[in-house]
Amino acid sequence: MQRKKIALIGAGHIGSMLAMMITQAQLGDIVLLDLPEKLNSSQGKVLDILALRAHAKSDIELTASADFAAISGANVVVITAGMPRRPHMTREDLLSINLAIITAVSLEVKKFAPDAYVIISTNPVDTMSQAFYELTGFPKNRVIGLSGALDSSRFRNFVALETNLSPEDVACLVMGGHGPTMIPITRTATVGGIPLAAIMTAEQINKVVERTREAGTEIVNLLGDGSAYFSSAGAILEMVEALILDKRRVICSSVLCQGEYGVEGLFIGVPAVLGANGLERIIEIELTPEEQEMLDNTVHAVSKSVITAGLMR
Ligand code: APR
Repeated sequence: MQRKKIALIGAGHIGSMLAMMITQAQLGDIVLLDLPEKLNSSQGKVLDILALRAHAKSDIELTASADFAAISGANVVVITAGMPRRPHMTREDLLSINLAIITAVSLEVKKFAPDAYVIISTNPVDTMSQAFYELTGFPKNRVIGLSGALDSSRFRNFVALETNLSPEDVACLVMGGHGPTMIPITRTATVGGIPLAAIMTAEQINKVVERTREAGTEIVNLLGDGSAYFSSAGAILEMVEALILDKRRVICSSVLCQGEYGVEGLFIGVPAVLGANGLERIIEIELTPEEQEMLDNTVHAVSKSVITAGLMR
C-alpha cells in the first residue's frame, strides 16, 4: 500500500510537535516546510525526529524544505504558518499579518498540491480558512479549520479537573467561532454516557464553560512568548487521522456553512463528519433559543473579522 504524504507548512511550535506526533502514529511520510531563513532549524528538527523513530518503532520518512515544490503530491496539507499570539493580544490582532502569510501559502498549495485535503490552524482560524477557500477555489470538503477539536479538548480537561474523572470519558460539542464567543453545548455533554448535569453543579459547569472560552488566553499569558501547541498539535493529529484512516469522526471544525444552522457562506465551527473525503457532512442539531442567541453572536463576530479581511462579497 502506498504511504500517504503529509505536508506541514510552518515548522514552528505546532508544526514540529505535530511532525513528532504523526511520526509516532505512523500516519504518513512528512515534509516540514518553513521559510528559507528557518531551513537550518527545520532540518535540525527533522534530524531529531528521525532519531526518535527508533524509540517510536516508526519508519516514517521526514524531510525539511523551504521550497514548496517539495509538497507536490501531498494528500494532506496542514497549515500552521503564521504568528501566534503574545500576552494582551486577541486572535483578531493577528488578522492582517496572518492574512498576508495565508495568501502567500494558499497560492503555493494550489500550485503544488491542488488535490490535497487542507487543515488550517493559523489564527484567527475561521477567517483564515475562509481566506484559503476563497483564494484557492478548493472545494469546501477539502478546507477544514481547527476549532472544536481543540476547544472540546479544553472543555474535557476542565471537566476532568473539576470532577476528578478521566478526560477520555468526557464528550462535548463546542461550536461557533474559535474565540471568546465559542459555544460549549453543555446540555448534550456527558461523562461516560452520564449527563454532565448529573455529575456537576450548574456553578461548576459555568466555571468550566468560562475557563474553556479563555483557555487559549490563559496559556498565552502564562507562556509569555507564544500560544498553545501541545494540545493544538494533538487536536490536529485527530483530524489528520480521521482523514487518512477514513474514521468518519464527528469533530467540530471550522467549515463552510451554506445554510446549515442558518449560516450562509461563512466558515464557522459546526459538528463535522471527517473521513476520507474530508468534510463528509455537517450534522445539524436543534438549538435552544439561548444557544441560538450565542450562535448569532459568534456569527456576528466571525463576519466582522471576515469583512475586515476584505473577504465578504
Ligand atoms: N511559509 C512558511 N512558513 C511560514 C511562513 C510562510 N510564508 N510565514 C511564517 N512561517 C512560519 C514561521 O517561520 C514559524 O516557524 O510559521 C511558523 C509558526 O510557528 P510559531 O511561531 O511557533 O507558531 P505556532 O505556535 O506554531 O502557531 C502557528 O497556529 O494556532 C495558530 O495562533 C497560532 O497563528 C498561529 C499558528
